[in-house]
Amino acid sequence: MTGSDSSGQRRGFGIDVGGSGVKGGIVDLDTGALIGERFKLATPQPATPEAVAETVAAVTREFGWEGPLGVTYPGVVQGGVVRTAANVDKAWIGTNVNEVFTRALDGQQVTVLNDADAAGVAEERFGAGKDNTGVIVLLTFGTGIGSAVIHNGILLPNTEFGHLEVGGKEAEHRAASSVKERKDWSYERWTKEVTKVLVAIENAIWPDLFIAGGGISRKADKWIPLLTNRTPVVAAALQNTAGIVGAAMAANRDVTH
Ligand code: BGC
Repeated sequence: MTGSDSSGQRRGFGIDVGGSGVKGGIVDLDTGALIGERFKLATPQPATPEAVAETVAAVTREFGWEGPLGVTYPGVVQGGVVRTAANVDKAWIGTNVNEVFTRALDGQQVTVLNDADAAGVAEERFGAGKDNTGVIVLLTFGTGIGSAVIHNGILLPNTEFGHLEVGGKEAEHRAASSVKERKDWSYERWTKEVTKVLVAIENAIWPDLFIAGGGISRKADKWIPLLTNRTPVVAAALQNTAGIVGAAMAANRDVTH
């Protein structure tokens, strides 16, 4: 299956590689909706590049997909080469991901991009940012903090605001949702730290809108109202499909990056 069907519907295929699961789905590139169900396999442990590539290939085969394929990676990917591995196996650093994935997929063409960048482009086009024409910063709160900066559909790739030093500490060590869990903080306590991170970002680049993503955004009503930074913050709308949708967009050149 590839490209568009007889009705002219443009289809893409994306895979989101996370710490616990490798999730794939076919995407309607005009609406950002998934066509059919997501399919998920457990992330192999240890999550080495070769093992993850095999899992990505297995998810792809499940759909019989043969067209362009987009895959997310939770770190910096520059010109197809992985540069950082903050919360994943260090064996990834220096890996030419396109090559490793393409090999496991018998030559099929693969586009790999940062996980938060993928979520950001999907949210900007189809989700919480679709009515905003300004500068949008998406942040994902999870094990770490991921970031994406998008302006009028154009992504500035590989921003790493999670590693910005804020008050003498890396942003993601201060305000990832994993920190809240580990320290058993209330939303009140945790949002004080999130506010500090948002203020540091907004003082540097003055976005028009923050979109908060990651699992904890499902409880957004409990904590977004507690933030005291200047820029409006809204919850991500696509939730757990944003990475898949953004990866499919990137593979089909629906993203400028
Ligand atoms: C990585 C980012 C990634 C984020 C979320 C951070 O530690 O540096 O590249 O987007 O975690 O997975």
